[in-house]
Amino acid sequence: MTDCVSLIILGATGNLAKVKLIPSLFHLEVAGLLDEKVKIICSGRIEYTPEQWEEQLAESVHAYSRDKWSDKVFKRFTNRVTYFAGDYAQKETFERLKKLLHDEFPPNHAFYLSLPPAHYVKIVQTLGSLKMLEENGNWRRVVIEKPFGRDLESAVSLQNMLKKHLKEHQTYRIDHYMGKAMVQNILVSRFANLMLEPLWNRNYIDHVQITRTEKLGVGTRSEFYEKTGALRDMLQSHLMQLMSLVAMEPPISMDADDLRDEKVKVLKSIRPIHPSAIQAQSFRAQYREGMIDGENVPGYLQEPDVEPESVTETYAAMKLYVDNWRWNGVPFYLRTGKRMAEASTMVSICFKQPPKHFFRSSHIERPPPNWLIMSMSPEESLRLEITVKEPGLEMQTRQISLDAPFRCEHHAKADAYEGLLLDVIEGDRSLFLRFDEVEHAWRIVDPVIRNWSTERDYIHTYPAGEWEPEEVRRIFDRAEHSWRHVLDPEV
Ligand code: BG6
Repeated sequence: MTDCVSLIILGATGNLAKVKLIPSLFHLEVAGLLDEKVKIICSGRIEYTPEQWEEQLAESVHAYSRDKWSDKVFKRFTNRVTYFAGDYAQKETFERLKKLLHDEFPPNHAFYLSLPPAHYVKIVQTLGSLKMLEENGNWRRVVIEKPFGRDLESAVSLQNMLKKHLKEHQTYRIDHYMGKAMVQNILVSRFANLMLEPLWNRNYIDHVQITRTEKLGVGTRSEFYEKTGALRDMLQSHLMQLMSLVAMEPPISMDADDLRDEKVKVLKSIRPIHPSAIQAQSFRAQYREGMIDGENVPGYLQEPDVEPESVTETYAAMKLYVDNWRWNGVPFYLRTGKRMAEASTMVSICFKQPPKHFFRSSHIERPPPNWLIMSMSPEESLRLEITVKEPGLEMQTRQISLDAPFRCEHHAKADAYEGLLLDVIEGDRSLFLRFDEVEHAWRIVDPVIRNWSTERDYIHTYPAGEWEPEEVRRIFDRAEHSWRHVLDPEV
């Protein structure tokens, strides 16, 4: 049975709420998944009358919802939404919010901080000092967006402050990648099928690649991006989460803590990067002017509010080793970039060569290795690439691929935020990050962050709309390693 819940979105006039949270809540409404006991308070600094806020909601739903417009459903949705204006720097705002919640709203409260990280501390302190986080028979939850801190030290200090007002079970550190169906499919493919497990180790796997490339640039987010860069924005969070799911041991159950215990074990087993290995294990670059889909686009340095000499990376790649029994010696290559040739998200597993080559007479001296590719975007699919005999009398080999789309036309699509918002309402923390996950992820990237923040004279560049510079090859262990860029229609 669903509890009576007030979901309070702080920062509801911002981009995340407009593009993701409001459309996701609307989709849940359409699907009938929001219980009538769930009420939503959207809060922001701007004053809106209820009618004006309804217009804002309609705009966001029209622009970002995949569902067909329905007056009836929209009415049902707006009936559960209230707008609350206030300046978060003023305690008085929260005193008013407290009174409103107490007088008119359901007693269990989930606060979603859809705000820049600089606001987290002050807001949680204020909520804490007004006893708005105390659980007296009713629960209190706080959802915190990434990045959680900007390095290990700041993450620890943020955590120490939050701890004063929030218990771990009340803290929902969100990484929207954990809400993506294909990301959860990594777990299902691995642990609901026996056939992969015997091969899932250093004896059979040569290396693993985890990629998220985007065609988009930094857009209107340069101010945030200048302070963040690709390593913090994507690699430390989303890509390391993917890596921990690929590399983890089977958990004893799918309960939140059992799952997260195993993810943490992977992160703890990652070999620390010695300062002398930074060049060999990491690479950064920045996009310059170029063409995306036939249109000229500016370089990063020409984006508004970017420092003329900025060396903020829009591309980051790293090589990591998991020093445990299963993965010893297997490189994991992680990379992410904006304004690249194609947009795609994939986990690509490259298998080792068979111990003996019997088919040398074929035109290919050495057949390509087998690959298993879990593609998350643009397609959601599993692909296995294998070598077969070419039809005909000669002994010629070729590669074919077994492709299994994960979603057929009739399968409903859901945004990652939909499931995660429901989890907050229902109190399921398995897909949210525990602090030790965040902590160990920072521990791994920290030496690179430190090095990049001191080396400010030079950064490699790539034209927008192209792949990364060749120099990235320095991180590969072997000459035959190279990036799998996209899922080509045919192998
Ligand atoms: C966000 C980053 O967390 O993830 C953005 O801040 C990035 O810079 C986005 O564009 C990518 O998410 P997705 O779901 O499109 O891969």
